[in-house]
Amino acid sequence: MSYTPTPEDKFTFGLWTVGWQARDQFGDATRAPLDPVETVHKLAELGAYGVTFHDDDLLAVEGDRDKAIENFKKALADTGLKVPMATTNLFTHPVFKDGGFTSNNREIRRYAIRKVIRNLDLAAELGAKTYVCWGGREGAESDAAKDIRAALSRYKEAMDILGQYVVDKGYDIRFAIEPKPNEPRGDILLPTVGHALAFINELERPEMVGLNPETGHEQMAGLNFFHAISQAMWHGKLFHIDLNGQRGIKYDQDLIFGHGDVQNSFFLVDLLEHGGYEGPRHFDYKPVRTDDKEDAWESLAANMRTYLILKEKAKAYRADPEVQAALAASKVDELGARTLAEGETLQDLLNDEFDLEGVAARGFHFTHLSQLALEHLFGVR
Ligand code: GCO
Ligand code: MN
Ligand code: MN
Repeated sequence: MSYTPTPEDKFTFGLWTVGWQARDQFGDATRAPLDPVETVHKLAELGAYGVTFHDDDLLAVEGDRDKAIENFKKALADTGLKVPMATTNLFTHPVFKDGGFTSNNREIRRYAIRKVIRNLDLAAELGAKTYVCWGGREGAESDAAKDIRAALSRYKEAMDILGQYVVDKGYDIRFAIEPKPNEPRGDILLPTVGHALAFINELERPEMVGLNPETGHEQMAGLNFFHAISQAMWHGKLFHIDLNGQRGIKYDQDLIFGHGDVQNSFFLVDLLEHGGYEGPRHFDYKPVRTDDKEDAWESLAANMRTYLILKEKAKAYRADPEVQAALAASKVDELGARTLAEGETLQDLLNDEFDLEGVAARGFHFTHLSQLALEHLFGVR
């Protein structure tokens, strides 16, 4: 199998990934700003399918918004790159220091909605079908500072207003909430997939709102990303995904995909490839601060190469007869069978008898199955 990406793989990247100048709170930028036009051409050259952006990303090197949009559109036309997703930067400008949709300051909440709506128009114009809402500043450092119930009401109000706007304009756009537990706020609202799923149910148009889970964000909360994506899919809410790497419960590392928990990444790729997800494989990662410009482009390509390697390993794992036998021995498929069979009555179930001690004594042989999976991952099968 070739590990050379093509647009058919549907790999996409945010302008803000390879364009990150590596400025952090302890040090200045180590890389120069990247012109979005250069990024679009380089992504196409490397085999990407599409590019995503925050409204402000387009202004990385061109202060004139209209000119920046014109240049971006020309680069898209010249390369054929798609724009499956767009989003808004409601976190860099100091005005958002207490949030956008849930700032205690009503004037800022109103400005945040205006800023999103302005970029929704551009997103629709560029053909984006998904609009991500990452509420990085929606949160607090002090329990005294924020009435969380009121904040959630304002969050709902904003999402409902935006949903109404999309309906009124007839845009073919759905929203995808991106959960994160903390950073840059001490605690961020809607911190995990579970919280966001519960919140979506309270919206006026829940069918228009799904999830954009990010690998490292669930893992920052000590949660299993494979489980998070499985539940998002089960609810029919995996509208988009941010793939990257994270090494344990610490600051958001946004590592290259697969450079964090490799085993979890293997099972995630298996799930995406065999679980029916047809959306973009979007990498929201950042080249490490020690990378120079060339290193950064190599890191971008590494995301796609790593995904393709894991995709091939997952395919071999599924095709391995010993794995199929081990899956059966572990009754993995039996979980797909209804507990109460079609046509059975509860009385049938109550009448059931089984060898309690005999069944209790049997093992599930998960060790053998897990070792087989890891040996495929290690490349020794
Ligand atoms: C993070 C987030 C962001 C968002 C992006 C799109 O920095 O922790 O993952 O990269 O995904 O702003 O909303
Ligand atoms: Mn992140
Ligand atoms: Mn993200």
